[in-house]
Amino acid sequence: MDDNRVLIFDTTLRDGEQSPGISLNTAEKLEIAHQLARLNVDVIEAGFPIASPGDFEAVQAIARQVQGPVIAGLARANPGDIDRAWEAVRDSERPRIHTFVSTSDIHIEHQMQNTREDVRGLARAAVAQARALCDDVEFSPMDATRADIEFTAEICQIAIDEGATTINIPDTVGYTMPDEYTRYLEQLYAFAPGLSGVVLSTHCHDDLGLAVANSFAGVLAGARQVECAINGIGERAGNAALEEIVMLLSTRGDAVGGLHTGIVTTELARTSRLVSRLTGYLIQPNKAIVGRNAFAHESGIHQDGVLKERTTFEIMDATTVGLEANQLVLGKHSGRHALKQALEELGYSVDGQALNTAFKRFKDIADKKKQVTAMDLEALVTDELREETGYALESFNVEASSVRPPHASVQVRMPDGSLAQGSFTGDGPIDAVFHAINAATGVDARLREYRVDAVSEGQDALGDVNVVLELDGHSATGQGVATDIIEASGRAYLRALTLAVAKATRGDAPRPKPEVPEPLPSPAT
Ligand code: KIV
Ligand code: ZN
Repeated sequence: MDDNRVLIFDTTLRDGEQSPGISLNTAEKLEIAHQLARLNVDVIEAGFPIASPGDFEAVQAIARQVQGPVIAGLARANPGDIDRAWEAVRDSERPRIHTFVSTSDIHIEHQMQNTREDVRGLARAAVAQARALCDDVEFSPMDATRADIEFTAEICQIAIDEGATTINIPDTVGYTMPDEYTRYLEQLYAFAPGLSGVVLSTHCHDDLGLAVANSFAGVLAGARQVECAINGIGERAGNAALEEIVMLLSTRGDAVGGLHTGIVTTELARTSRLVSRLTGYLIQPNKAIVGRNAFAHESGIHQDGVLKERTTFEIMDATTVGLEANQLVLGKHSGRHALKQALEELGYSVDGQALNTAFKRFKDIADKKKQVTAMDLEALVTDELREETGYALESFNVEASSVRPPHASVQVRMPDGSLAQGSFTGDGPIDAVFHAINAATGVDARLREYRVDAVSEGQDALGDVNVVLELDGHSATGQGVATDIIEASGRAYLRALTLAVAKATRGDAPRPKPEVPEPLPSPAT
């Protein structure tokens, strides 16, 4: 392999999905995974299969359906986790088991209530078991940057001796600094000679805002895999942002000996929007690379300079990250063929009934909106082409004025196909719709968060609504897109309700967090 090629390991669907309030269903995870494959990431960490039946199902679906990248499943260092991870990824063309155990004394003593000797045994047994199942095994000494380096090196060497092919050095709590991380990795190479025969990887959290800088420092020390997540989502302050580390290497790689990745950078903006829409995590306007202002120039001097010559104030071209791909694509006279072609250009292959549904929805929107842009189509596809297996909004009627409390009545298609009605007088029109939905479905869910954004600019922009609701201790998110924000809100609420009811019915236990493992070796469910 090319010595300067840095592998991109995307953990949006695992570490990213652990962010508070994010809860993606299998269809949504699959959609993100397909887009990650289009982005050409090298590895997709698809989830933590032991965490819940839903996590397992999603990892397995991704392993079976997404081609190209390696598909990894996470497992703590215990037999139950590793077997479950293997079951989930084994049908992939390129499966990987990623197993981990902490090497810091803080974790060993206080959290695992174990000893260093136990950790030696756990690492040895876990990697040996994983390697007997799968040729591609990654091992992570969790909280490595706060651990004794010689002990961590010993554990890494044990993992390598047992057949690990990638060693990942997590800065689990986002504590290290670039120079320190570089020195740490350099010393690790000296203490664990086997490291030079495997891929060394970085996994940096952003608690001090240094995740990307630390990942870059790791690459300079010889790491050739970077673990990162789209929009930097992840535990607490998140992980290194994929788009930032990729564009750093793309823009400045020549200054560091030609380091580069295989990422199709023109897919970055779209991937970022998709993840933001499905997770409900907004992208701050000034976010590097994918923020809506990342290439905007406000000051007169800058505008003047850029108009004369773009490079006066821009180090990257917005088109290289796919930010200016939002050209007008269709109008209300466009036909089914034009829609199919436009969707194909966006990477969606849509035929048969799915195309009919998309076309009907497109016509409704095109009647209300003069121009349907690529961004509108993306939102439409995310909204419309998902499998609707639960509750769906059939119709609604809302009366709102400044003189009477708003009143809503709704008709909901139930999962068994029957129609249910409900009405309610609420504090506001959206509140009334949500309560009317609860009345129609007989489910007493509580709204926790509500947000509405515009998909694109202009008065006729599509409304994009995100809700988080709670039912019997289970939280679930839902999104809806429509020209009318009441309709978008109803769709979003019903999707979240479908997910919450499924979780409550299955009796999903709260997910065990990899960052805070249960005392080993007992597997949690
Ligand atoms: O941050 C961390 O240590 C992790 C490990 C599971 C790799 O996410
Ligand atoms: Zn992490």
